[in-house]
Amino acid sequence: MIKIHQPLDGQDWLLREIKKSDLRLLEYGRMYRKYRKLMELSYQDHKNHKKVYLVAEVKRKIAGQIIIDRRVLKDQTKSDGVSRAYLYSFRVFPPFRRRGLGTAMLNFCLRYLKEKNFLYAAIACEKKNPLALKLYLRLGFKIFKEEDLPWEFEDEEGKKHTVSEPEWVLEKTL
Ligand SMILES: CC(C)(COP(=O)(O)OP(=O)(O)OC[C@H]1O[C@@H](n2cnc3c(N)ncnc32)[C@H](O)[C@@H]1OP(=O)(O)O)[C@@H](O)C(=O)NCCC(=O)NCCS
Repeated sequence: MIKIHQPLDGQDWLLREIKKSDLRLLEYGRMYRKYRKLMELSYQDHKNHKKVYLVAEVKRKIAGQIIIDRRVLKDQTKSDGVSRAYLYSFRVFPPFRRRGLGTAMLNFCLRYLKEKNFLYAAIACEKKNPLALKLYLRLGFKIFKEEDLPWEFEDEEGKKHTVSEPEWVLEKTL
């Protein structure tokens, strides 16, 4: 059971495993609603120990999420089930940004993976997201490839979307 408490900006925050009742709150109103089905699938994968789906809380309010994928992925440079794991679906909701929460969440994941004997953590970052890239570089991630593979998802109304955004893929030695 993962649950950590740490002071942040003088306030208490915690990072804990997801529970089912978090799913709607993690949509943050309309902001992430389109990912409802993906989030439900990740929740199932968490229950089946294929992923670690973590939720951050500040003053008992849900403030963000991050998912650790440690399955054997088709792209084993991201996650190979043994030495590499992939961090994704990382977000801090707007009122909680720029206070160090994102950094603390990533640092937790890096420590967690190291304790589980993983050797590398990988993360992808859209090229049009320089602020996230800066954060990853500051934490010691290094770009090792770029990718432009379109991916598809179905929104909460069953409408299909294709996302085609060039990305950097980064890794950090743990
Ligand atoms: C990217 C994201 C997760 C970062 O979360 P965050 O909680 O704002 O991250 P942090 O506060 O740890 O760091 C962000 C910046 O705030 C700065 N910061 C940290 N603590 C701070 C504080 N107390 N006061 C002011 N700034 C602070 C950090 O230095 C960092 O700046 P830098 O990267 O230029 O050095 C968040 O902006 C987000 O959810 N964005 C939308 C979704 C997204 O882009 N996800 C990433 C997909 S690749």
